[in-house]
Amino acid sequence: MSLPSFVKIVEVGPRDGLQNEKTIVPAAVKIAFINRLSQTGLRAIEATSFVSPKWIPQLADAEEVFRSIEKKPGVAYPVLVPNEKGMQRALDAGAKEASIFTAASETFNHKNINCSIAESIERFKPVMVMAAKHGIRVRGYISTVIGCPYEGAIKPEAVAQVAKQLADLGCYEISLGDTIGVGTPIKAQRMLAAVAAQVPMQKLAAHFHDTYGQALANIHACLELGVAVVDSSTSGLGGCPYAKGATGNVATEDVLFMLTGMGIETGVGMAKLLAAGQFINQALARQPESKLGRIHADSRRDARTLDRHK
Ligand code: HMG
Ligand code: MG
Repeated sequence: MSLPSFVKIVEVGPRDGLQNEKTIVPAAVKIAFINRLSQTGLRAIEATSFVSPKWIPQLADAEEVFRSIEKKPGVAYPVLVPNEKGMQRALDAGAKEASIFTAASETFNHKNINCSIAESIERFKPVMVMAAKHGIRVRGYISTVIGCPYEGAIKPEAVAQVAKQLADLGCYEISLGDTIGVGTPIKAQRMLAAVAAQVPMQKLAAHFHDTYGQALANIHACLELGVAVVDSSTSGLGGCPYAKGATGNVATEDVLFMLTGMGIETGVGMAKLLAAGQFINQALARQPESKLGRIHADSRRDARTLDRHK
């Protein structure tokens, strides 16, 4: 067993978290949240999504948010783009890094981005050309890498096949998403081993939702195999509106506590992270509920996360 000495934490709260809130969080709050996260030592903060506002109204203010956040030198601010239109919007807003996203399950992909896996790969080809032309680094996401809310268990080989296609397209990193948090450590390792047979481990990231409290165990299992990039969300915000039952991402505070306790460097400071978490939770608590129903049960673990790390 050789654990990495440094792990890059990719903070996805402003995107994966806020895309799934019942309320529309004002742009000014999102901007202040991201600015606080920028002071924590995080090196990558997924800022927003240039997807269809009809599909994700929570992030319809992507342009305003992206343009207004302070871009701290040394911090990457990737944004989600589903197609050429999304990439053009991201470029116009000044993004320097983008993430494309598909799934290992056909049904989930149809529900999430309205096309098959093969169609999504075709859709990404011109997106990658645009990115290359403008010097944009592109990350790739695969959802439902262990289980799908519609199709059940997903074969590791199916994930590996999609990962290879994303790597061949030119993605510098591929994030493996356990969208509904059904992974357990051995399943996570089997999936990761299958993917790592196709794509170098250094290019892989772990993205676990914490529906059944398995995320930290799964991350540890992936670290044991050599993963050194972990996605997480401050306060465990998050979910996917197109995956019924998916709760939040693993909390960044918990990931940091585990990594620090294991002697693994991240560069992230707990005190500033807790303050950023407190800020967004207080802001969310003040928002009146809108008609945007969050499909899953409330996943925000604000008070609990804070209390644990005080
Ligand atoms: P569609 O309806 O098939 O799109 O949606 P279309 O190309 O037919 O266009 C329909 C309309 O949308 C047109 O406008 C387009 O201009 C517009 P109209 O002519 O009707 O006025 N449109 C756009 N507008 C703004 N920005 C765009 C854009 N594209 C088209 N980029 C589409 C297809 C992909 C657009 C839609 O399905 C979509 O936006 N889906 C996003 C869903 C999403 O964001 N899900 C959550 C993120 S994924 C996730 O959370 C998982 C992850 O965390 C990993 C894990 O945990 O598994 C990453
Ligand atoms: Mg996610």
